[in-house]
Amino acid sequence: MNTQSDTKNVSQGTANTTGGAPPEVMDYEGSDYQERFWGSGERDYEDRAERIALRKLVPPAGRRLVEFGAAFGRLADLYGGYDQVILLDYSRSLLAQAQARLGHDQRFVFVAANLYKLPLVDGVVDTGVIVRVMHHLADVAAALAEIGRTVAPGGALVAEYASKRHLKSIARYALRRQQWSPFDSNPYEFVPLNFDFHPDWMTARFRSAGLTIEQELAVSHFRIAVLKQLVPARYLAAADGAVQGIGARWKLTPSVFVRCRVPGSAPSALPASLFQCPECRGSLTDGGVSMDCTHCGRRWPVRAGIFDFKEPLDV
Ligand SMILES: C[S@@+](CC[C@H](N)C(=O)[O-])C[C@H]1O[C@@H](n2cnc3c(N)ncnc32)[C@H](O)[C@@H]1O
Repeated sequence: MNTQSDTKNVSQGTANTTGGAPPEVMDYEGSDYQERFWGSGERDYEDRAERIALRKLVPPAGRRLVEFGAAFGRLADLYGGYDQVILLDYSRSLLAQAQARLGHDQRFVFVAANLYKLPLVDGVVDTGVIVRVMHHLADVAAALAEIGRTVAPGGALVAEYASKRHLKSIARYALRRQQWSPFDSNPYEFVPLNFDFHPDWMTARFRSAGLTIEQELAVSHFRIAVLKQLVPARYLAAADGAVQGIGARWKLTPSVFVRCRVPGSAPSALPASLFQCPECRGSLTDGGVSMDCTHCGRRWPVRAGIFDFKEPLDV
């Protein structure tokens, strides 16, 4: 059993869509994720190690970046080199926390949406980031197809996933304290909507989505309770940073970071409009209190500075 689940006090919900049944979504609405998971300082090491990896992988500057599943904006300070930053999440309450922290900075755009049905136009950003979200995705292929279409040709997608083939799970399996094999290529759902993935399986998914893997980093080598108690987080994270590159050869850590490239040459300009209708992909006009679809007529509310594409207004 993976003890690093992010999902105590969150519920499972489904996207409110028409048409085919969408994959189930891990719903963080109203959760205390920020305080409970990151507030205690228990994961200072992981936070630091992840930031080291992201500084190596995320292109330092660009026109527009989107973080999928950005929650309360934990990593937003890493995007200082971008002209515009879209923080997108399914949870309105976590986005409201992000907005309270970052709303004074006009570069940020807050978007409530399901990443399986994005309200973003094709090729709208030059960088996409997704960290600690992949493990909640029951349909990784569908998510990567949708995410990938929003990144412009030549752009980068920096993605983190939880690996099942890490040293602790290998040791537990060898000692017969764990039934499932870390070497089996299929995803392992350790609690509902919490998956660990085999690195080879994830590599195949990135490739099937038409993405080229450019660089990988193995992250959180030292996620061991006793080490975290004994060694200050900044030293442990620095040690992790020193071996993230070489460790990627074997990928034996619980977390793997990947920078993928979208094939093609970068356009001279990104689309001026960010949004399209997540239901019919029609173009939207700004109706002041809502973004209105010129094709299907749905009206997507804008509430307190958050573009909300989860549920249209009644028409
Ligand atoms: C474990 S948190 C990670 C938050 C942030 N990326 C970080 O590393 O601090 C997972 C986030 O993914 C979001 N999420 C999960 N499934 C989603 C979906 N289908 N669409 C949009 N966001 C989703 C959740 O609302 C939650 O905020």
